[in-house]
Amino acid sequence: MASDTDRMERLVALAKRRGFIFPSSEIYGGLNGFWDYGPLGVELKRNVKQAWWDDIVRRPPTGPDGEPIEMVGLDCSIIMNPTVWEASGHVVSFNDPLVDCKECKARYRADTFERLILLPVDAIPQRIDNWTDYRMHNLQPLLDRGGNPTCLAEPGATLEDMQRLVRRVLDSKRAKLVPKPVADAGKPADRTEVFVEDGQDSYFLARPLSSARSGDRCPHCGGELTDARKFNMMFKTYVGALEDSSSVAHLRPETAQGIFVNFKNVLDTQRLKLPFGIAQIGKAFRNEINPRNYTFRSREFEQMEIEFFCHPDQAAEWYTWWRDARYAWYVRHGLTSDRLRLRDHEEDELAHYAEACADVEYDFPFGVSELEGIANRTDFDLKAHQDRSGRDMAYFDEERWQQDAGQYKPEHYGGDKKAAKQAAAEAKQGMPYRFVPYVIEPSGGVDRAALAFLCEAYDEDEAPDEKGNPQQRTVLRLHPRLAPVKVAVFPLVKKDGMPEKARALYEACREQMTAFYDEKGAVGRRYRRQDEAGTPFCVTVDGQTNEDGTVTVRDRDSMEQVRVPSDGVVAWLKDRLAGA
Ligand code: GAP
Repeated sequence: MASDTDRMERLVALAKRRGFIFPSSEIYGGLNGFWDYGPLGVELKRNVKQAWWDDIVRRPPTGPDGEPIEMVGLDCSIIMNPTVWEASGHVVSFNDPLVDCKECKARYRADTFERLILLPVDAIPQRIDNWTDYRMHNLQPLLDRGGNPTCLAEPGATLEDMQRLVRRVLDSKRAKLVPKPVADAGKPADRTEVFVEDGQDSYFLARPLSSARSGDRCPHCGGELTDARKFNMMFKTYVGALEDSSSVAHLRPETAQGIFVNFKNVLDTQRLKLPFGIAQIGKAFRNEINPRNYTFRSREFEQMEIEFFCHPDQAAEWYTWWRDARYAWYVRHGLTSDRLRLRDHEEDELAHYAEACADVEYDFPFGVSELEGIANRTDFDLKAHQDRSGRDMAYFDEERWQQDAGQYKPEHYGGDKKAAKQAAAEAKQGMPYRFVPYVIEPSGGVDRAALAFLCEAYDEDEAPDEKGNPQQRTVLRLHPRLAPVKVAVFPLVKKDGMPEKARALYEACREQMTAFYDEKGAVGRRYRRQDEAGTPFCVTVDGQTNEDGTVTVRDRDSMEQVRVPSDGVVAWLKDRLAGA
């Protein structure tokens, strides 16, 4: 199998070739950070969203108490009252630190500035599982032992970019660069890992995440960098005819705030009881400084977010439950390799309002990165909107009150009705009856999930051609539920009534599932096209169909072919695609 870099390049080429993903407005040169989903991509993305919506809202999972959890959906506007973003903290703190090169004007995110570091080989620790996440503070001891930070690489730099940089740095020494796989854990070499040999010493190059520091130079031209300054990532627009400060609004950078500001609307209209969740899928926009890694970090993307409201005492239990449930969801949909990970955040990584947080991460060909975050956000968001809007965001636990109301009868207050009434009124104002709920938030990205599913599904193996000679084949082993097309129907040849029969079969199939009809070219090539599209089954009407009424069904993954009666083929497929 190809290296991670090759693999990614081949996947990107396939996604373009087969109509999964195109650069946005490509005929005009595209726009950095924006992507279009083609005919197959849009089906894949819709399937990801539909699977999520069905599993979360329509048929919610069973909670820790054995009962299905209560979930409802929401679809909020993208542009909201600007005060939403003041209350949520986005206006003040949704910032990325930015540095500019004073010479060439290149712009970088200062907090993920990737510094190229040369370390003597003997300073390399025995085992590092995750270079991209290997933070500066971890590296410091190594640097203290003789490591020598020498130059900078731009985030997303390829091995070749790095080699060029290193060559420049080591030019005087006439260093030789020898990319080598890391002989560790049998993992494929990270494209950023490279050994440098200069005849005497060997060095190891790492590319850890770190922050730009004073004295850092521009990776492009070596020019001086400005100090880091804050850059708010929300896209601005104007509402109405006037374009002045009074009409400024923002495109939402997350769907979550729409849920928080509608908490009371949903609670009151749906007569819900805690715990319950509100789910939303929708577009979000972030003016990322460095969009990169294909669709992974885009400026326009879609989120699938859940805000699960619960009693503060139960928040820890629900957090763990959601964390594990969300991880399991990705495994169930095909991310079965050890590239999928669940990482609990360290104490010092947590936002000030969060009590716990974990990331579902995927080891993409460009490094390990977050697919979804699950956080216990406490009552921070609802309280922030309560404070700013003046609207009460508290929940009243009527059931609990009814259980306890007897304690506030006059006989418990020496027959004093007034005292009993007052005590009841006071008790109702606070815990355990009235409180602002805690929130568990599983927040995932549709585009990142789709990309991870594509990366995991991409495979190359061998299949015999028409003459029986083995040929390399590219196949997307997508989970049937996510596959854009479930079945392709072909006539073996365009004669002997086969096209008519195949068309009729295709019409019957498309009543029940996404189907595709193709009669052009050799059947082997038609199979290959469907393998690349991730289609789980191909059905071929052939000579034998005329004799015994059966058709050939070919399995994408095993390439096995079986004969199935033509009039039972839809049911046969539905059986095997159950739930897809
Ligand atoms: N409400 C919480 C929130 O928005 P986040 O970690 O900033 O948290 C949640 O975003 C998810 O949205 C991420 O895990 C990721 O899947 C997706 N996401 C965030 N920024 C993205 C970007 N620039 N491009 C694509 N997906 C992104």
